Amino acid sequence: MSDEPGTPSRTGSTAGSPAAAAAGSSHTTAAVIPAAGRGVRLGPGAPKALRTLNGTPMLVHAVRAMAGSRAVSLVVVVAPPDGAAEVEALLAEHSWPPGTELLVVPGGDTRQESVRLGIGVLPESVTAVLVHDAARPLVPVDTVDAVIAAVRNGAPAVVPAVPLADTVKQVEPQSGGGPEPVVATPERALLRAVQTPQGFDRALLARAHATVTHDVTDDASMVEQLGVRVVVVPGHEEAFKVTRPLDLVLAEAVLARRRINDGF
Ligand code: C5P
Repeated sequence: MSDEPGTPSRTGSTAGSPAAAAAGSSHTTAAVIPAAGRGVRLGPGAPKALRTLNGTPMLVHAVRAMAGSRAVSLVVVVAPPDGAAEVEALLAEHSWPPGTELLVVPGGDTRQESVRLGIGVLPESVTAVLVHDAARPLVPVDTVDAVIAAVRNGAPAVVPAVPLADTVKQVEPQSGGGPEPVVATPERALLRAVQTPQGFDRALLARAHATVTHDVTDDASMVEQLGVRVVVVPGHEEAFKVTRPLDLVLAEAVLARRRINDGF
């Protein structure tokens, strides 16, 4: 099997092949988790998705968050291009809800390419797709379910989002690194910080990935470029993206709080 970046061949599965998934199942909602990034902003070390939070790799938390929704029956993990075997072994060490199928495929050079490779192995029977960043390991299952419900109720593209605490300025970057002039201050009340999982009608998402080739930072913006309306459901503060070292501290604090709350 090929481990080449960008090659949509499969590295196998922890719980069944894509063909098996296609053959027998009634999957309708699948989750694709791009986890192939290096996570440079976190500092040196393992690929971001494999960094641990309280001893458990971020990716395992993220897969749990998707598999925790009863509506999700297939989770496709897009691994670092040279790390698919390692990710498969890691996932095999953990137990997963019965009825949840896991597949691992090698990712690509960009997030967009990684998502495209993940979409490429979905069985025909999948009609709705969640795309969830491994870098958002702590999204609550209620948020996942809210996105799925909106898609199942007919919205072709759904994003969870939260209001902003900070005022946002648009600036004009300076090539020499000098102070950046502010060119606009969008009205904060109209802005939202967008999280994942983002949910899509499967055919629409596939069309967006086949059509939009320039760099984007989320899947919903690709759908917007097709002229299709994207809608927002409430996101959650615990669905934040682990990007910088301080985010690791915050994520571990959230897990500690959950453990205390679960104890009562
Ligand atoms: O870089 P960024 O934080 O936007 O990455 C968001 C998600 O996309 C992460 O979960 C990361 O692992 C994933 N990614 C990927 N393939 C890449 C780059 C990023 O799957 N080539």
